Amino acid sequence: MSAPATIPPSHDDIATPVGTTLERYIMRKQAEFPFATGELSQLLRDIALASKIMVREVSRAGLNGIAAVVGPEGEQTAPRHRLGEEAHIRFVRALTNGRECCAVLSEARADIIDTGNHDGKYVVALNPLNGSVSLDFNVSTGTIFSIYRRVSRYGGPARAEDFTQGGRAQVAAGYILYGSSTMLVYTTGHGVAGFTYEPSLGEFFLSHPRLTMPTRGEVFSCNEGNWFDFPEFARTFLTTCKERRMSARYVGSLAADYHRNLFTGGIYLYPPTGQWPSGKLRLLYECYPIAFVSEQAGGVAVTGADEVLDVPPTADLHQRVPLFVGSAELVRELQVVAAE
Ligand code: F6P
Repeated sequence: MSAPATIPPSHDDIATPVGTTLERYIMRKQAEFPFATGELSQLLRDIALASKIMVREVSRAGLNGIAAVVGPEGEQTAPRHRLGEEAHIRFVRALTNGRECCAVLSEARADIIDTGNHDGKYVVALNPLNGSVSLDFNVSTGTIFSIYRRVSRYGGPARAEDFTQGGRAQVAAGYILYGSSTMLVYTTGHGVAGFTYEPSLGEFFLSHPRLTMPTRGEVFSCNEGNWFDFPEFARTFLTTCKERRMSARYVGSLAADYHRNLFTGGIYLYPPTGQWPSGKLRLLYECYPIAFVSEQAGGVAVTGADEVLDVPPTADLHQRVPLFVGSAELVRELQVVAAE
Protein backbone atom coordinates (compact mmCIF):
# COMPACT_ATOMS: atom_id res chain seq x y z
CA MET A 1 0.00 0.00 0.00
CA SER A 2 1.39 3.39 -0.93
CA ALA A 3 1.82 5.98 1.80
CA PRO A 4 -0.78 8.79 1.82
CA ALA A 5 0.37 11.91 -0.03
CA THR A 6 1.37 14.69 2.33
CA ILE A 7 1.13 18.36 1.44
CA PRO A 8 4.52 19.92 2.08
CA PRO A 9 4.25 22.91 4.43
CA SER A 10 4.50 26.25 2.66
CA HIS A 11 7.09 28.88 3.53
CA ASP A 12 4.35 30.70 5.46
CA ASP A 13 3.37 27.60 7.45
CA ILE A 14 6.95 27.21 8.62
CA ALA A 15 7.66 30.89 9.27
CA THR A 16 4.37 31.67 11.00
CA PRO A 17 2.73 28.51 12.32
CA VAL A 18 -0.61 28.50 14.16
CA GLY A 19 0.09 29.74 17.67
CA THR A 20 2.49 32.48 16.57
CA THR A 21 1.82 35.68 18.53
CA LEU A 22 0.40 38.62 16.58
CA GLU A 23 3.52 40.58 17.48
CA ARG A 24 5.87 37.97 15.99
CA TYR A 25 3.60 37.48 12.97
CA ILE A 26 3.68 41.20 12.19
CA MET A 27 7.48 41.23 12.53
CA ARG A 28 7.90 38.18 10.27
CA LYS A 29 5.59 39.66 7.63
CA GLN A 30 7.45 42.94 7.72
CA ALA A 31 10.73 41.13 7.16
CA GLU A 32 9.30 39.72 3.90
CA PHE A 33 9.14 43.24 2.42
CA PRO A 34 12.66 44.48 1.74
CA PHE A 35 11.80 48.18 1.90
CA ALA A 36 9.32 48.02 4.79
CA THR A 37 10.28 50.49 7.47
CA GLY A 38 8.08 49.15 10.24
CA GLU A 39 5.56 52.00 10.47
CA LEU A 40 2.61 49.94 9.28
CA SER A 41 3.63 47.17 11.67
CA GLN A 42 3.66 49.64 14.54
CA LEU A 43 0.26 50.92 13.53
CA LEU A 44 -1.20 47.40 13.55
CA ARG A 45 0.30 46.92 17.01
CA ASP A 46 -1.37 50.14 18.18
CA ILE A 47 -4.73 48.87 16.96
CA ALA A 48 -4.15 45.54 18.71
CA LEU A 49 -3.23 47.36 21.93
CA ALA A 50 -6.42 49.44 21.92
CA SER A 51 -8.46 46.33 21.18
CA LYS A 52 -6.99 44.56 24.21
CA ILE A 53 -8.16 47.43 26.39
CA MET A 54 -11.57 47.17 24.77
CA VAL A 55 -11.73 43.42 25.47
CA ARG A 56 -11.44 44.31 29.13
CA GLU A 57 -14.03 47.10 28.92
CA VAL A 58 -16.52 45.07 26.88
CA SER A 59 -16.26 42.10 29.23
CA ARG A 60 -17.22 44.41 32.12
CA ALA A 61 -20.17 46.00 30.32
CA GLY A 62 -22.89 46.49 32.89
CA LEU A 63 -20.51 47.26 35.75
CA ASN A 64 -19.70 50.76 36.97
CA GLY A 65 -22.46 52.27 34.86
CA ILE A 66 -20.28 51.85 31.81
CA ALA A 67 -23.03 50.26 29.76
CA ALA A 68 -25.24 53.27 29.33
CA VAL A 69 -26.55 55.37 26.53
CA VAL A 70 -25.12 58.86 26.57
CA GLY A 71 -27.20 60.37 23.78
CA PRO A 72 -26.75 60.86 20.04
CA GLU A 73 -23.67 62.75 18.90
CA GLY A 74 -21.47 63.28 15.87
CA GLU A 75 -22.29 61.03 12.96
CA GLN A 76 -24.13 58.44 15.02
CA THR A 77 -27.32 56.88 13.64
CA ALA A 78 -28.27 55.36 16.96
CA PRO A 79 -28.01 56.60 20.52
CA ARG A 80 -24.36 56.75 21.51
CA HIS A 81 -23.31 54.11 23.98
CA ARG A 82 -20.76 55.00 26.62
CA LEU A 83 -18.63 52.03 25.55
CA GLY A 84 -18.71 53.24 21.94
CA GLU A 85 -17.33 56.52 23.19
CA GLU A 86 -14.74 54.68 25.29
CA ALA A 87 -13.67 52.69 22.20
CA HIS A 88 -13.31 55.89 20.20
CA ILE A 89 -11.08 57.41 22.88
CA ARG A 90 -8.96 54.27 23.29
CA PHE A 91 -8.28 53.79 19.57
CA VAL A 92 -7.50 57.44 18.95
CA ARG A 93 -5.18 57.50 21.97
CA ALA A 94 -3.30 54.35 20.90
CA LEU A 95 -2.93 55.66 17.35
CA THR A 96 -1.77 59.03 18.64
CA ASN A 97 0.79 57.54 21.04
CA GLY A 98 2.09 55.14 18.38
CA ARG A 99 3.09 58.16 16.24
CA GLU A 100 2.65 56.51 12.80
CA CYS A 101 -0.91 57.71 12.23
CA CYS A 102 -1.34 61.39 11.41
CA ALA A 103 -5.15 61.46 11.48
CA VAL A 104 -8.18 59.37 12.36
CA LEU A 105 -11.65 59.41 10.84
CA SER A 106 -14.03 57.90 13.38
CA GLU A 107 -17.71 57.11 13.19
CA ALA A 108 -17.97 58.84 16.55
CA ARG A 109 -16.94 62.28 15.29
CA ALA A 110 -18.02 64.41 12.34
CA ASP A 111 -14.55 65.78 11.59
CA ILE A 112 -11.13 64.27 10.98
CA ILE A 113 -9.10 64.01 14.19
CA ASP A 114 -5.57 65.39 13.92
CA THR A 115 -3.27 63.24 16.09
CA GLY A 116 -0.48 65.80 15.85
CA ASN A 117 1.84 63.18 14.28
CA HIS A 118 2.39 65.27 11.17
CA ASP A 119 5.33 63.14 10.07
CA GLY A 120 3.19 59.99 10.25
CA LYS A 121 2.67 58.33 6.87
CA TYR A 122 -0.71 56.76 7.54
CA VAL A 123 -4.32 57.66 8.23
CA VAL A 124 -6.90 55.35 9.81
CA ALA A 125 -10.67 55.30 9.30
CA LEU A 126 -12.60 53.33 11.87
CA ASN A 127 -15.88 52.43 13.40
CA PRO A 128 -14.72 52.08 17.01
CA LEU A 129 -17.57 49.83 18.18
CA ASN A 130 -20.32 48.80 15.80
CA GLY A 131 -23.49 47.30 17.16
CA SER A 132 -22.72 48.97 20.50
CA VAL A 133 -26.37 49.81 21.06
CA SER A 134 -26.89 46.11 21.93
CA LEU A 135 -23.99 45.95 24.39
CA ASP A 136 -26.23 46.07 27.40
CA PHE A 137 -27.61 42.72 26.28
CA ASN A 138 -24.29 40.86 25.83
CA VAL A 139 -24.47 40.92 22.04
CA SER A 140 -21.23 40.63 20.04
CA THR A 141 -19.76 43.87 18.76
CA GLY A 142 -16.73 44.82 16.72
CA THR A 143 -14.21 47.45 15.70
CA ILE A 144 -13.71 47.89 11.94
CA PHE A 145 -10.64 49.68 10.56
CA SER A 146 -9.14 50.77 7.28
CA ILE A 147 -5.61 52.11 6.74
CA TYR A 148 -4.26 54.36 3.95
CA ARG A 149 -0.88 55.75 3.19
CA ARG A 150 -1.44 59.49 3.14
CA VAL A 151 -1.23 61.45 -0.12
CA SER A 152 -0.94 64.86 1.54
CA ARG A 153 2.43 66.39 2.24
CA TYR A 154 4.36 64.88 5.16
CA GLY A 155 5.07 67.36 7.90
CA GLY A 156 1.63 69.00 7.76
CA PRO A 157 -1.82 67.92 8.94
CA ALA A 158 -3.75 65.22 7.02
CA ARG A 159 -6.43 66.29 4.57
CA ALA A 160 -9.76 64.81 3.49
CA GLU A 161 -8.10 63.46 0.30
CA ASP A 162 -6.05 61.10 2.45
CA PHE A 163 -9.30 59.34 3.34
CA THR A 164 -10.94 59.52 -0.06
CA GLN A 165 -8.39 57.66 -2.18
CA GLY A 166 -10.87 54.84 -2.85
CA GLY A 167 -11.21 51.29 -1.60
CA ARG A 168 -8.40 49.90 -3.72
CA ALA A 169 -5.90 52.27 -2.10
CA GLN A 170 -6.31 50.66 1.32
CA VAL A 171 -3.00 49.23 2.52
CA ALA A 172 -4.56 47.23 5.32
CA ALA A 173 -8.02 46.65 6.76
CA GLY A 174 -9.73 44.40 9.21
CA TYR A 175 -11.86 44.10 12.28
CA ILE A 176 -11.81 42.97 15.87
CA LEU A 177 -14.79 40.93 16.96
CA TYR A 178 -15.62 40.96 20.66
CA GLY A 179 -17.66 37.76 20.81
CA SER A 180 -17.56 34.45 22.64
CA SER A 181 -13.84 34.93 22.19
CA THR A 182 -12.12 37.98 20.72
CA MET A 183 -10.67 37.73 17.26
CA LEU A 184 -8.61 40.13 15.20
CA VAL A 185 -8.91 39.53 11.46
CA TYR A 186 -6.90 41.57 8.98
CA THR A 187 -5.42 41.76 5.53
CA THR A 188 -2.59 43.74 3.97
CA GLY A 189 -3.54 42.46 0.53
CA HIS A 190 -1.82 39.08 0.85
CA GLY A 191 -4.68 36.92 2.13
CA VAL A 192 -6.56 37.16 5.41
CA ALA A 193 -5.26 36.01 8.78
CA GLY A 194 -7.22 35.59 12.01
CA PHE A 195 -5.86 35.83 15.56
CA THR A 196 -7.64 34.72 18.73
CA TYR A 197 -7.11 36.56 22.00
CA GLU A 198 -5.89 34.60 25.03
CA PRO A 199 -7.06 36.76 27.93
CA SER A 200 -4.93 35.13 30.63
CA LEU A 201 -1.78 35.85 28.60
CA GLY A 202 -2.97 39.14 27.13
CA GLU A 203 -1.90 38.08 23.62
CA PHE A 204 -3.45 37.50 20.24
CA PHE A 205 -2.31 34.19 18.70
CA LEU A 206 -2.51 33.18 15.07
CA SER A 207 -5.44 30.75 14.90
CA HIS A 208 -6.58 31.05 11.27
CA PRO A 209 -3.59 31.59 8.95
CA ARG A 210 -5.51 31.71 5.67
CA LEU A 211 -9.16 32.57 6.02
CA THR A 212 -11.24 31.86 2.93
CA MET A 213 -14.95 32.25 2.47
CA PRO A 214 -16.93 29.30 1.06
CA THR A 215 -18.19 30.13 -2.44
CA ARG A 216 -21.75 29.20 -1.43
CA GLY A 217 -23.53 29.15 1.91
CA GLU A 218 -26.84 28.49 3.60
CA VAL A 219 -27.21 31.72 5.57
CA PHE A 220 -28.77 35.07 4.73
CA SER A 221 -28.37 37.99 7.12
CA CYS A 222 -30.46 41.14 7.01
CA ASN A 223 -32.89 43.17 9.10
CA GLU A 224 -36.10 41.64 7.82
CA GLY A 225 -38.07 44.20 9.79
CA ASN A 226 -37.35 46.47 6.82
CA TRP A 227 -38.92 44.00 4.35
CA PHE A 228 -41.63 46.35 3.11
CA ASP A 229 -39.00 49.03 2.47
CA PHE A 230 -36.60 46.76 0.60
CA PRO A 231 -36.33 47.25 -3.16
CA GLU A 232 -38.11 44.62 -5.26
CA PHE A 233 -34.90 42.83 -6.28
CA ALA A 234 -33.88 42.30 -2.64
CA ARG A 235 -37.28 40.83 -1.80
CA THR A 236 -37.15 38.55 -4.85
CA PHE A 237 -33.66 37.34 -3.92
CA LEU A 238 -34.60 36.78 -0.27
CA THR A 239 -37.73 34.88 -1.29
CA THR A 240 -35.51 32.50 -3.29
CA CYS A 241 -33.28 32.09 -0.21
CA LYS A 242 -36.33 31.11 1.81
CA GLU A 243 -37.65 28.76 -0.87
CA ARG A 244 -34.27 27.01 -0.66
CA ARG A 245 -34.78 26.79 3.09
CA MET A 246 -31.64 28.79 3.83
CA SER A 247 -31.23 29.92 7.44
CA ALA A 248 -31.79 33.49 8.58
CA ARG A 249 -29.10 34.71 11.01
CA TYR A 250 -28.81 38.38 12.01
CA VAL A 251 -26.96 39.82 14.99
CA GLY A 252 -27.29 43.46 13.95
CA SER A 253 -23.55 44.11 14.26
CA LEU A 254 -21.77 44.08 10.91
CA ALA A 255 -18.51 42.59 12.23
CA ALA A 256 -20.36 39.73 13.92
CA ASP A 257 -22.67 39.00 10.99
CA TYR A 258 -19.84 39.20 8.50
CA HIS A 259 -17.51 37.05 10.61
CA ARG A 260 -20.06 34.24 10.96
CA ASN A 261 -20.71 34.21 7.23
CA LEU A 262 -16.97 34.28 6.49
CA PHE A 263 -16.73 30.91 8.19
CA THR A 264 -20.05 29.32 7.22
CA GLY A 265 -20.63 30.92 3.84
CA GLY A 266 -23.66 33.12 3.30
CA ILE A 267 -24.70 36.63 2.38
CA TYR A 268 -25.17 39.83 4.40
CA LEU A 269 -27.56 42.41 2.96
CA TYR A 270 -28.21 46.02 3.89
CA PRO A 271 -30.24 47.32 0.94
CA PRO A 272 -31.57 50.87 0.65
CA THR A 273 -34.62 51.39 2.86
CA GLY A 274 -37.17 54.12 3.41
CA GLN A 275 -35.15 55.46 6.35
CA TRP A 276 -31.78 54.98 4.57
CA PRO A 277 -32.45 55.51 0.85
CA SER A 278 -28.71 55.41 0.03
CA GLY A 279 -28.06 52.48 2.34
CA LYS A 280 -27.17 52.68 6.01
CA LEU A 281 -23.59 51.51 6.25
CA ARG A 282 -20.61 53.83 5.94
CA LEU A 283 -18.38 53.46 2.91
CA LEU A 284 -15.06 54.51 4.40
CA TYR A 285 -14.97 52.64 7.67
CA GLU A 286 -17.46 49.80 7.26
CA CYS A 287 -17.95 48.82 3.62
CA TYR A 288 -14.44 49.39 2.20
CA PRO A 289 -12.60 47.46 4.93
CA ILE A 290 -15.10 44.60 4.94
CA ALA A 291 -14.92 44.51 1.12
CA PHE A 292 -11.09 44.42 1.19
CA VAL A 293 -11.12 41.50 3.65
CA SER A 294 -13.81 39.78 1.56
CA GLU A 295 -11.97 40.09 -1.69
CA GLN A 296 -8.82 38.72 -0.08
CA ALA A 297 -10.83 35.82 1.38
CA GLY A 298 -12.40 34.95 -1.98
CA GLY A 299 -15.77 36.57 -1.25
CA VAL A 300 -17.51 39.44 -3.04
CA ALA A 301 -18.86 42.81 -1.83
CA VAL A 302 -21.13 44.97 -3.98
CA THR A 303 -23.48 47.90 -3.57
CA GLY A 304 -25.76 46.46 -6.28
CA ALA A 305 -24.23 46.61 -9.74
CA ASP A 306 -20.86 47.94 -8.50
CA GLU A 307 -18.04 46.33 -6.58
CA VAL A 308 -17.75 48.16 -3.25
CA LEU A 309 -14.00 48.73 -3.71
CA ASP A 310 -14.69 50.58 -6.97
CA VAL A 311 -17.29 52.98 -5.57
CA PRO A 312 -15.77 56.47 -5.75
CA PRO A 313 -15.95 58.27 -2.42
CA THR A 314 -17.73 61.60 -2.32
CA ALA A 315 -16.68 64.60 -0.26
CA ASP A 316 -18.89 63.30 2.55
CA LEU A 317 -16.49 61.33 4.74
CA HIS A 318 -19.43 59.59 6.38
CA GLN A 319 -21.02 58.56 3.06
CA ARG A 320 -23.45 55.66 3.20
CA VAL A 321 -23.93 52.95 0.58
CA PRO A 322 -26.00 49.77 0.27
CA LEU A 323 -23.99 46.62 1.06
CA PHE A 324 -24.32 43.04 -0.16
CA VAL A 325 -21.36 40.93 0.91
CA GLY A 326 -20.54 37.28 1.23
CA SER A 327 -20.04 34.07 -0.70
CA ALA A 328 -19.17 34.76 -4.32
CA GLU A 329 -21.93 32.69 -5.93
CA LEU A 330 -24.67 34.12 -3.70
CA VAL A 331 -23.62 37.73 -4.28
CA ARG A 332 -23.36 37.19 -8.05
CA GLU A 333 -26.83 35.61 -7.97
CA LEU A 334 -28.17 38.68 -6.20
CA GLN A 335 -26.61 40.89 -8.87
CA VAL A 336 -28.35 38.93 -11.62
CA VAL A 337 -31.70 39.45 -9.86
CA ALA A 338 -30.91 43.14 -9.36
CA ALA A 339 -30.15 43.57 -13.06
CA GLU A 340 -33.42 41.95 -14.25
O1 F6P B 1 -22.96 50.53 11.90
C1 F6P B 1 -24.22 50.30 11.52
C2 F6P B 1 -24.77 49.01 12.09
O2 F6P B 1 -24.82 49.02 13.50
C3 F6P B 1 -24.08 47.72 11.63
O3 F6P B 1 -23.03 47.30 12.44
C4 F6P B 1 -25.22 46.75 11.63
O4 F6P B 1 -25.05 45.67 10.75
C5 F6P B 1 -26.39 47.61 11.23
O5 F6P B 1 -26.06 48.96 11.56
C6 F6P B 1 -27.65 47.24 11.94
O6 F6P B 1 -28.65 48.05 11.48
P1 F6P B 1 -30.19 47.74 11.84
O7 F6P B 1 -30.29 47.96 13.32
O8 F6P B 1 -30.94 48.74 11.05
O9 F6P B 1 -30.47 46.34 11.45
